[in-house]
Amino acid sequence: MNPGANPPGRCLEVKGLHVHYGSIHALHGADLHVDRGEIVCVVGANGAGKSTLMWAIAGVLPLTGGSIALNGAPLPARAHEIVTLGVCLVPERRRLFTALSVRENLIMGAVRRTDRDGIALDMEKCFELYPVLKERIDQRSGTLSGGEQQMLAVSRALMGRPSVLLLDEPSLGLAPLVTDALFDTILRIRDEGVTVLLVEQNALLALDIGDRGYVLQTGEIIKSAPCAELAEDPLIRRAYLGEE
Ligand SMILES: Nc1ncnc2c1ncn2[C@@H]1O[C@H](COP(=O)(O)OP(=O)(O)OP(=O)(O)O)[C@@H](O)[C@H]1O
Ligand SMILES: [Mg+2]
Repeated sequence: MNPGANPPGRCLEVKGLHVHYGSIHALHGADLHVDRGEIVCVVGANGAGKSTLMWAIAGVLPLTGGSIALNGAPLPARAHEIVTLGVCLVPERRRLFTALSVRENLIMGAVRRTDRDGIALDMEKCFELYPVLKERIDQRSGTLSGGEQQMLAVSRALMGRPSVLLLDEPSLGLAPLVTDALFDTILRIRDEGVTVLLVEQNALLALDIGDRGYVLQTGEIIKSAPCAELAEDPLIRRAYLGEE
């Protein structure tokens, strides 16, 4: 077998990733992979580099070393080309177009598509997933509740028909019940064939729904294991789950 070949089922492969902000070295050679159909979690404290990793995969931040491949081929450098390949980011703090309505935000998510019927169908699918968005369809998104805004941010990404969904801190600022409901929908999205890379400070939540997980600490992956195993690891429980 060709040792450089993409392993079967391998979707995303991040190798030796370095990212700098000027002189700040935010990622120091991070390695991780995501196989098709998985939910892979990256947990880590504030400032560990989780968002940097997501912005780098999405093509918004340039790499200063290493590589990222999608289905065995190098990811293009530009963000819009990466979206076209089906890798869509739901950024931390949602970054909606707050002056635009729910409908307009969803349409913006489909901006690279031309299949009108498919777009209408996918909008209906989003409303099945999050019925409240249909009730609020003409409301300005900046006036939605935090939970509704997160649902809209996820839906906007789904309107791009992603094969890989990058979720950065979806639980941020949400009440526990709203978070639980949102995480149930992440499982549904995966069950419909979307591969998920989920970054969370709330390790307990992420490890509960993920298949495999990575622990990122000051720009380095210090551990990787099935989520069930990480959730039982005493070191992880002390550092990230607040246990004594
Ligand atoms: N625009 C920037 N300019 C300079 N340094 C930055 C910038 N953005 C992030 N950093 C630094 O890079 C490191 C990683 O930040 P990042 O936002 O990726 O962390 P994070 O794990 O997402 O944290 P949080 O859990 O708070 O969202 C931090 O030390 C941060 O201060
Ligand atoms: Mg972050």
